[in-house]
Formats: sequence, C-alpha cells, structure tokens
Amino acid sequence: MKLIPFLTFLSLVTLAQAQTKPVAVPPPAAVVFESQVTSPSGSQAPGDQYIFFGANAKPGDKWGEDPAMNLVKLTDFNVSIVSAPLGNCQLMPPEANSPAGVKVIAPGGAPVVATGILGCNRSGDDKKYADLATFRITNPAVTSFSIWVLDSTVKLRANVNEGLAIRVNNCAPVAPCATVRTDFGCEFSKFTITGASVSDVFTVAVLSSDGNGNNRTIAGLTFSVIPDPTMVGKKFPIIEQQGWNDLNKNGKKDVYEDPSQPVEKRVEDLLKQMTLEEKLGQLNQLVSGDRKNDMALFPLMRRGEVSSYIWGRGVPADRNQFQRIAVQESRLGIPILFGMDIIHGASTLFPISLGLSCSFNPELFERAQTVAARETRAEGVEWVFAPMCDLARDPRWGRVAETCGEDPYLSSLCNAAQVRGFQGTNPAASDRVAACLKHYVGYSAVTGGRDYNDSEITQWTLRNVHLPSFYAGVKAGALTIMSSFNAIGGIPAVANHQTLTEILRDEWKFQGFVVSDWLAVEQLVNWGYAKNKADAAALAINAGNDMDMKSEAYVPNLAKEVKEGRVSQATVDEAVRRVLRVKFQVGLFERPYVDESAYKGAQKKPEDIALARECVTKSTVLLKNAGILPLSKELKKIALIGPVGDDHREILGCWTGRTSWSKPTLASALKEALPTDATLTVVKGCAINTVPTTKTLQDGRIVPDESVPPTDADCKIDDAVAAAKDADVVIMAVGETKGFTGENASRAFLTLTGNQQALFDAVAATGKPVVTIVFSGRPLALPEVWEKSAAVFYAWQPGGEAGSGLADLLVGNVAPSARLSMSVPRHVGQVPIYYNYYNTGRPGSGQYQDMKDMDAKFWFGYGLTYTTFAYSPVKIIPSANGKPAEAAVTITNTGKREGDEVPQLYIRQLVCHEGARPKQELRGFKRVKLQPGEKADVSFPLTGDVLGYIDRKGNPRADAGDYEIWIAPSAHAGTPAAFNFAPGDLK
Ligand code: BGC
Repeated sequence: MKLIPFLTFLSLVTLAQAQTKPVAVPPPAAVVFESQVTSPSGSQAPGDQYIFFGANAKPGDKWGEDPAMNLVKLTDFNVSIVSAPLGNCQLMPPEANSPAGVKVIAPGGAPVVATGILGCNRSGDDKKYADLATFRITNPAVTSFSIWVLDSTVKLRANVNEGLAIRVNNCAPVAPCATVRTDFGCEFSKFTITGASVSDVFTVAVLSSDGNGNNRTIAGLTFSVIPDPTMVGKKFPIIEQQGWNDLNKNGKKDVYEDPSQPVEKRVEDLLKQMTLEEKLGQLNQLVSGDRKNDMALFPLMRRGEVSSYIWGRGVPADRNQFQRIAVQESRLGIPILFGMDIIHGASTLFPISLGLSCSFNPELFERAQTVAARETRAEGVEWVFAPMCDLARDPRWGRVAETCGEDPYLSSLCNAAQVRGFQGTNPAASDRVAACLKHYVGYSAVTGGRDYNDSEITQWTLRNVHLPSFYAGVKAGALTIMSSFNAIGGIPAVANHQTLTEILRDEWKFQGFVVSDWLAVEQLVNWGYAKNKADAAALAINAGNDMDMKSEAYVPNLAKEVKEGRVSQATVDEAVRRVLRVKFQVGLFERPYVDESAYKGAQKKPEDIALARECVTKSTVLLKNAGILPLSKELKKIALIGPVGDDHREILGCWTGRTSWSKPTLASALKEALPTDATLTVVKGCAINTVPTTKTLQDGRIVPDESVPPTDADCKIDDAVAAAKDADVVIMAVGETKGFTGENASRAFLTLTGNQQALFDAVAATGKPVVTIVFSGRPLALPEVWEKSAAVFYAWQPGGEAGSGLADLLVGNVAPSARLSMSVPRHVGQVPIYYNYYNTGRPGSGQYQDMKDMDAKFWFGYGLTYTTFAYSPVKIIPSANGKPAEAAVTITNTGKREGDEVPQLYIRQLVCHEGARPKQELRGFKRVKLQPGEKADVSFPLTGDVLGYIDRKGNPRADAGDYEIWIAPSAHAGTPAAFNFAPGDLK
C-alpha cells in the first residue's frame, strides 16, 4: 500500500443566515465550523484536507487550538458556507435508539441542540430533499472535491432509494447519490464531485424517494468537504519500504519490522526497544466516540498509549486515519488493534447465537462467522469480541441470547466452530479476524439472573459446566479472551488469579492475551475489592488480565506500581508480549491499513444472504404442530397478526452489527411465498411493548412512573380479532422486545411483552387455527400459547433474513430441523432449569407445593419436523479387536415427507466417587436425512473421552463402572441401555 503524506490545516468559517423553520434553536450566534486535521483517507491525493461541519460544532469552537494536532491556521479557506438550512425537517420527539442531545446544523449556521432526533418527514412524499447545509467553492482553482460522511452521528432510517445527496444549484443530485442502507451509513462514506465551478452552490441533502408513507428520520449528521488541490501542511515520513514498514523510522529493517522473522523474535526485539510507558500503552484499550472526542485522543496515540480501539464507527477511511497517527507519528509505530462486537453478523445478520445453536450444526456457525469475519475485516476491524462461551442456565439473564445454550458439549462444539470461522487457518488473512472468548468465567451463573452479579460456583461445576466451552475455544486457537464482570466467591473475574493464570496459562498454556470487560478494572473499586484505580490496576494485571478495556487504570498507575515493586517488570513484559504476539499474528505490522476500496465488495454478497436465510430455517424450532403446518395451498385467507409481523428491527437481535433495518419482513416475504390466489391481511394488533410514563426523581434520574399505566398507541385488538375471524388461518408473530434481551436486560417475568398476551388470547378465542411464531432472546414461559396454538415455531431473533427463512418454513419449501439448545420452562418459578441436573438423594421429590410438574415444558434437544421418526431400542455393541464399544439404534422415517432427525447420545455414570454426576449429559449427536419409510443405523463410540469428566485438579478422567446410555430425540426421552465400562476399555 502506498503511504501518502498528508497535510493539516484549519479553517474558521463564520456563518450568518436566516432561519427557515421554527425549531428549538439556541440564541443566534456565529457558528465556527470545524475543519479537520488530516485526511480521512490514505488513498486521497497528497495534501488532502477537509472541513467538517461538525454535528458537535458549537458556537465559539475554534480550529487549530490544539498544537498537538499540528494544525496550520488558514485564514482564507476556499470553501465558504452559504447557509445551513434545515429544509423542511423538524425536531421529532426522542426515540429509543437515537443519541440524546444530537446537534445539527441549523438555519443560519447556528447549531441546534436537539433533545431528540431531527425528523425529515417525507410521509408519502416522493423524491424530496431536506437540505442540511449549503456551500460554495470560492477558489476557482478548485474544480473537484469530496464530501465525506462521517458515520458516527449519521442515523438514517432508510429505505430503498433514500439517503444523502449532493445537489448542485438546487437541481437533481449529483451522482453518486449515496444510498444509506443502514442506520450507521457504513455502506457509503464519500461523494466525489468533479467539474465544480465557483458559480455552483452545493447542497447536502437528505433524500427520500420511497413514497410508501414512512417517516424518514435523521438523528444528526456529520460530513466533511475535502477540497483539492494541495494546501499547506505537514509531511510525514514515508515508512513503507520494499516488503516491510520502517515503523520506528530509523532507516533500517529492525527484527520486529522484518516479516521473515519468527513472531517470538519480533516480539522480543520490539519489547526491548519500548519504554515502560510505551509498554503500558500496549495494555490500554479505548473506545471510539464521535469524531471530536476521538480527535482528543490523537496526542495519546502519538505517545503510543492506545493499543486498541473499540471501533463502532465503521468507516474504513476514518479508521485508516487513526491508524496513520499511531503508525506514522508514534515513535515505534506500533499499529492499533481495532476491535468490535460482531456477535451474530456484521452487514449480513444471522440468527442470534442461542438460535443458531439450535441448528445442532457447528459447521453452520463456522460458515456464518466466516462471512462475518470477511465483512468485519474489510472495514478495518481485525478483532471481534466473540464467541460468547457462557452457558445459559437461567433465562432471566438477558445475555442467554448471546450464548450457545445450556449444554457444555454442544456449546463447546459451536464455539470452537465460531473460532475457526473467525480466524480461519491464518488470522492475518484479509478476510479473517482474531476471536475473543468471553466472558471468562462464570458470568452466566449470576445470582437470580441479575446481570453483573456474583456467581457462586464450586470447582466441580466450574470444571465440568462452565470451563469446557472456553477450553474448546482455546484448543481451536482463539487468540484472545475477555474476563467477565461477575465475581466467584467474592473474587471479581478480572482479578481472579486461579482462573486467569493457574487454569488459563499454567494448565491450558494459552498464549494470547486477556482483555478485561468494559470498565471492569476500575469497577473492582465498586465491588469493594480494590481501594482505588491504582490498586485495581495492580490487582488485575497481577492476576493475569493483560489489557484494560476503557478504565484507563493501567497507563496512569502502573508505572508507579512497578517502581514501588508491587507489580513486577516481568509481569508487565509478559502482558505486553501477549498483546504484541496477537498484533503480529493478525498481520498488523505488515498491513496496518485497510484497503478502503474493497469495503463494499466484501459486504452482504448474494451467497451471504442465502446463508443467512438457511440459518433461519435451520435454527427455528418447531415445538408443536397439530397438522396445520406446512400451510396447505387450500388456505386462501391468511391473517398475519402481531407486532413482529411487519417489523424491520425486532427480528434482528440484540447485537445488530452494522445493520439495524431488515428487509424483507415476515409480511413481505410471506406475501411472496404464498400462492398467488391467497390473500394476506397484516394487522399489528399492538406494539411489541408498552411505553412507560416517566417521572424525574429528586436526584435528576428519570425513571418509569409505575403509578401511571404504560401506554400503547398501537393497541387495536378489535382490528386483529376482525381479521382473524375473516381468515382461514392466523399466523401470530409475537414475542419480547429486543430491548429486553442482551446485556443489562434481565427479566423477572418470562412473558410476552406489552399487550401481546391479551392480543393472543383475543385472537385465539376466535377459534381460528393459530400458528404462533415466538420471537425472543430467551425461552419464554407461555402456557396459553403452547396450549391454544395449533402450531408453534420458536424463531428466537432470526436476523436479517428472518422473513424469507420463516416463509420457507411456513409454506413448506423447507422442513424444520432445529432442536432446543435451551430448555423452555413451564414457569419462571422453576428457573434456573436445565436438563443435566442431579438425580439427588430423593429423586422425584421436592416439588413445588403449588406446581407439581417438575419437568420443563420442552427439554433441551426437543424439536419437531414435518415428518415423524421411530427409534429402535438402544443396543450396546461390546468392544472387540481394539475397537471401542458402541451404542447403536435404527431410526425409521415413519411419516410422509423427507426429514432430518437429530439423534442425541446421552450418558449417565451411575457411581462416581470424585463427585456425583448429572442425571444425563449430552456426549454426541448426529443428523440423518431420511425419505419416508427409509431407515438408518446410527451409532456412537463409548470411549473414555465420551464418558469422562474433569476431576477437581483439572485433569480429564473416565472411570470404569456402570453407565446408562440413551440415543434419543431429546433429553429425558427414550429408554437407556445399561453399559459396563470395563477397566480395559479405559485405554
Ligand atoms: C460487554 C461485552 C462487550 C464489551 C465491548 C461489555 O459491556 O459485556 O460483551 O464485548 O462491552 O463492547
């Protein structure tokens, strides 16, 4: 890659214009627009510069006041702002997802401080523009320039053909008119205008050409104008040499700069050139905010104090600009590692992990994360904070959505597959990223399902339930691990020497680095475990936590701790080694910059969309079918009722990567899939949740006012009932709002949110057959739904292709094949509930006095398809001729359609002196596709690996003795065969 010197400059543009719309504008003031320091792009011509109309600009802001930014003051900038009208946009009420206090350019140039969002309401109004700012080129030498849209404050609710446009002289947009397809605008970043003349007036405008009657909103916009040609500025050294980068700018190829040297030698060479301060800088991770806040970090980058950046902004050009500062302006040029939460997809959104794990198909995970890795790396992010290896035993905990379910064996396979998908065989490749196993460890066992709480976990349970999935990820080669928020036995995870050092490094020989979770180092003080930030930093690094996410506790404190001997130099060096090792392994020293031109081509290819659709069909679990599914072609009048039926957002899940708007919806996809003579009536019925009235407490906090009933403007249950009465079949799309899932989203009730239960009851009371699709990030306890529906699909949060995948299943283009990876309770009072419980001393006793049935409603492993299967009794084939014993069954397709069956191997060791073992443990599964009447023999080996456990010292172990063996369609189904594992079989 060619590295180009770039220039800096500043400009001060004063605007005075009349306001055209009555909006909440602060007192008129001259606005000082922001001009930027450096080009956002390495691929620009030398001398790039830009002015940036900051969403954060405020009266009085001046350019170039920060000498550390190397700004050169220009008094005569060659772009002049003519006006910055709001067009016919207006301030809208706050919206849940909109950043508070967004500032936009107001008419007259004064910034508007919007408490909510700026809405450009284009309802039913085709091909109209809302003008945001107008400017003109005053320097006749400038005939071409670019407009950069800096995404962090752009939030367009976009539909096809809408986005941002540059208009000239108030006419049609100059091509290309960027079409914004996501809220964060990451699919575009630049308009280039050529052939400009001083008589042209350019206008940046929001364009809507949808005409579907939807409101368009924009919640703040930052864009920049980059004029050519070169102006004055500072030049940076060219570091790129033939096949290597002169990162420390000393004119010679150091070992650490030499790609032909082994990683360990490069690490050592670099380490010995580093000062203590630079070393601590490599343990520091910061978070990108808006551009202006980020710019305040430039001095730290120059000092080598930013090792990693959580990069939420997307735009590769921006990312390169930041990298340029670290690489070209810091002494040793150590590149920044950009990290991001890409959990179930980036541009292509797959089902949440809990859903995808129901596919019982680790390979599908690998394929999905391969796509996510490519999309992410193309953006310039080389590290993702996934997979999540926590185990889901308590559905009250909002983060079960991010897990691969309740079972250690299934979760281990799914997480190892995700690591392979992210990293491939070479994490340095331009389509791969480093994975991060999180949250280490015990986070899912938080008391009462309350996020961030303590977890009481015994060594036995830690070793056999919570650790295996992390171990599988380590074995699969994961380069990094994130320590968790919880404490075990009073010791917060980020300071837990046993888990971070004794187990992870001493036992497992993990070579990568551990990053804390968000602010977890400084939160040691809140736990009451550390006295202050310095104490917290020392405790965390001494325990084995290498990188500090966001607390900024290491950099300012650890030098003193080292000098005073509380933290050894060796401890710091080892942590730095681990971080540098990963940076070398992902190829950052060779390719610090991302190819900006490759971004678009790497996103959401047709085959990615097809894969996402396949993932939906393979992760949606059919829980009940009284013969109504697949929908018969004879059903001519179909009503789709419920708030998720025509929804673009709720279906996406709690981590939406780079997408927050999905198309198609279930309604639009179903319309396509149904026979042409069928009619589909879509009725929302009610909102996904009610909106609480709020009150302000004395301390200023705004909280729900529980004395006032929450409201639901969409609640029109009568309309839904009328539609149901008129239909041959009703499809109900209901669930919980995605805001109730994910981090800090625990629930006390496992119910439908808002008025949906009332909606369901009223529709079910019509007597029409109801097919319910439940959309949720956790198992919900919905007795009426299970009982009164003719069929139930559990769709989880299926991601961007939810609509098309579900339509495939409903009409029978594809048969369901998923199995629950998490048990569904009858009632919240049962939780935590999981299939691998203990037999106890009094099996069958201990029921609740007010609920006798101890079973889950649907156990782990359960799921139906459009045909049926019969299992023969389990047969044990003894070991012979060096071959291990086997358990075998014959499975027959007894129905009328082809279908997939997922036979599952469960084991139970009847006596174990190390500690009692659970009543059942999954230790294998397969997938067989059978035609009607067809049979398949399925067998599993019964080796020590399959039957064993981890002893209290961390060693894998299997005991000779008596076992029960099931091969069954789900947990707690089927009849076991007895098996004696002979001492000779142990080998
Ligand atoms: C979450 C992590 C996430 C991190 C960075 C934390 O609050 O617990 O899962 O990776 O933030 O966004």
